[in-house]
Amino acid sequence: MSRFKYSYARAFAPASVSNVGPGFDVIGFPIDEPGDYIEAFTRPSKGVTLRIIAGETNNVTARVDMNTAGKAVLAMEEALAFEQGVELVLHKQMPIGSGLGSSAASAAAAVCAVNALLEYPLSKHELLPFALEGEALTSNGIKHGDNIVPALLGGFCIVRDIETYSYVTLPVKDDLLCLVVHPHIVIETAFARGILPKEISMKLAVKQSANAALLVAGILTGDYTLFKEIVHDELAEPFRKKLIPGYEEAKLACMQNGALGFSISGSGPSLFAFFDDPAKAEKTSVTLTGVFEGLQMGYSVYISKVNKQGAKVVEVR
Ligand code: HSE
Repeated sequence: MSRFKYSYARAFAPASVSNVGPGFDVIGFPIDEPGDYIEAFTRPSKGVTLRIIAGETNNVTARVDMNTAGKAVLAMEEALAFEQGVELVLHKQMPIGSGLGSSAASAAAAVCAVNALLEYPLSKHELLPFALEGEALTSNGIKHGDNIVPALLGGFCIVRDIETYSYVTLPVKDDLLCLVVHPHIVIETAFARGILPKEISMKLAVKQSANAALLVAGILTGDYTLFKEIVHDELAEPFRKKLIPGYEEAKLACMQNGALGFSISGSGPSLFAFFDDPAKAEKTSVTLTGVFEGLQMGYSVYISKVNKQGAKVVEVR
């Protein structure tokens, strides 16, 4: 049986860019913002309850077993046998279906907050299976780790096999910037997975492997020369880009302003571009304003380094 040592904890977990170029289902990293907050309160009667307040609450269920944060904490409760109850309050700062790893952020923040209530018995690596239980709700039970690993652990993450929690986190230089533009439409991950072919050709597999290997080499060496050629995805992007209004215009705007590479973040609609010059990234965000205003579509832009910390506890008492 596990007893809560604290009565209150608050944790934050960041948005993440997943499917990084050729890293479909494999490579992801968090950005500094936006992100979700979870408050966790110890309650005398057993069980997990959930309230959602603030911000992007559309289509986010407060049913504990159907919400990624709730489901993750239910999995913790089952494994650790909490002596008391816990109430979760989710401050949803980014919409689901955004391509920003919104569901993963909720799950990652939730497990960190509850771990804090217990006085940190588990490492982040040990929290991963519980967070993943929550995250799996978003893709009809198919587990992919390229959002949950970065949201929880931070850093430039390569997930070899999420079923065995096998991943590595690469060091990344601070000169690498990521611009993320989020057009305000919803693309559900389960739908965006459903439109993908079930098989690919040997030629595509070889090309994608080469590009993924070169992306990793570029991150490790800090030499981004090849990014223009390799930061794109052969497997999902050709199908998913059709779902994203402004994809071609946004790509052009990024590349003409000096982006190192451009692709879809997660299953979209968010798009991302790498830069090594803050001025070029800022200039691009202005150009993107013209693109999305022209399309009469709401959008948000974020510019961030690769966030190295991932989920964090911000208050415990
Ligand atoms: N790798 C996942 C997918 C990310 O493309 O379905 C979802 O955000």
